[in-house]
Amino acid sequence: MIILQGTSEPLKLNHHAEDGGIILKIGIDRLTFATTELYLDLRDLAAARHVDPDKYLIGIGQSQQAVIPPTQDAVTLAAQAAAKIPAAELAQVSTVIVATESGVDNSKAAALYVKQLLGLSDFVRTIELKEACYSATAGLQFAKGLVALHPTEKILVIASDIARYGLQTGGEVTQGGGAVAMVVAKDPRVLELESTSVAFSQDVMDFWRPLYRSEALVDGKYSTQVYIDFFQACWQRYQQLTGATLDDFAGFLFHLPFTKMGKKALASELGDRDDQVAQRFWAVLQASQVYSRRVGNLYTGSLYLSLLSALNHGQLQAGNRLGLFSYGSGAEGEFLTGRLVDGFAAALERPDAMLDQRRQVSVAEYETLFNQHLGLQSQDCTFDLSDSQAPFVLAGQQNHQRQYQRRG
Ligand code: HMG
Repeated sequence: MIILQGTSEPLKLNHHAEDGGIILKIGIDRLTFATTELYLDLRDLAAARHVDPDKYLIGIGQSQQAVIPPTQDAVTLAAQAAAKIPAAELAQVSTVIVATESGVDNSKAAALYVKQLLGLSDFVRTIELKEACYSATAGLQFAKGLVALHPTEKILVIASDIARYGLQTGGEVTQGGGAVAMVVAKDPRVLELESTSVAFSQDVMDFWRPLYRSEALVDGKYSTQVYIDFFQACWQRYQQLTGATLDDFAGFLFHLPFTKMGKKALASELGDRDDQVAQRFWAVLQASQVYSRRVGNLYTGSLYLSLLSALNHGQLQAGNRLGLFSYGSGAEGEFLTGRLVDGFAAALERPDAMLDQRRQVSVAEYETLFNQHLGLQSQDCTFDLSDSQAPFVLAGQQNHQRQYQRRG
């Protein structure tokens, strides 16, 4: 159980930004998603690892996992997600924030490569953010602040990651990868973010990746407990600050490192309640898990993929209030809330057909691709691009510089 520090200090509620006395509505105006063209069926992985498939399918709650070829990384996936936003909207972006823990350089921001690949104006601010899976939420809050200061600006926040634990490790079944792109703007078309949120951080070693490693280190079971403790710390504090209860929400969305994690977190609140409110929350959770179950952990993007999934697969309506729990190991959590806007479906991507069209790979092919990853290697190399139709690719490395290409 975590020990809370500083809870006796009353928090000041933050307020909606004002523009000449008018309260600004700021939030998510567009939501798109990209992953790779390849996936692994987890029944095949279970057979190869001599595990009962139900452990993966039911116990972990994953059925497929995105397989990442060496020609894809956090930059190409971020560019792919953002390129799905109509060009006229991208042209209005003043700032590109890339949230990732799969950065490709210790100095240069991934957002710079992404901005270049997208062909955005040079008069655009670019920055990369890091705090494990949490940083896209910080990006969203920073974007909201920028729009509050400059209400005509649109901010592009992209959450892009590759979850790598290693072959035959405990975390292998929870690998995955992809990116979610969000435009944050005034009078948003998808989700209007509300003013009060609760962030919670402590120095915890549940999951981390030292600079000399390309795979994460994790204390798996401990990490799931810290996640639940942080969710409860944030949610309870939110209730103290606002007086809100579950009745005020249509449902909660969670960061989903694997879909069972959302179930564990929600169960920590609902227990064995089976009334209408509980049923509504379970239905929203189920709708939010559809895409994660097929791609695995996106790290920074997972919470926002849950949002996209719930909006596309649930029965949510304009005006519904949603609670979002963001969690990043290390660790930081935040509970934030938003209200769905009339007509939200028009500003969403529906990635179901794209997921259906991916090519299934064998365990042997997945393992080969896993080992071809550029990782920390410093030598020049050129990747074979002939198998890929992806619009953005990493073609190799020359003179310690990653070679990106936009195709088509
Ligand atoms: P494990 O040891 O493989 O699995 O670790 P287990 O033995 O705990 O079994 C998992 C579940 O399957 C259990 O259910 C079993 O009962 C069940 P639970 O008790 O959890 O409800 N089970 C079965 N069910 C049906 N039929 C069967 C069967 N057999 C077993 N035959 C673990 C699982 C998730 C710990 C591991 O995969 C791992 O370490 N994953 C990576 C870490 C992770 O995802 N942590 C999540 C919280 S931390 C977080 O979210 C942050 C993160 O995204 C990183 C970041 O912030 O950057 C990870």
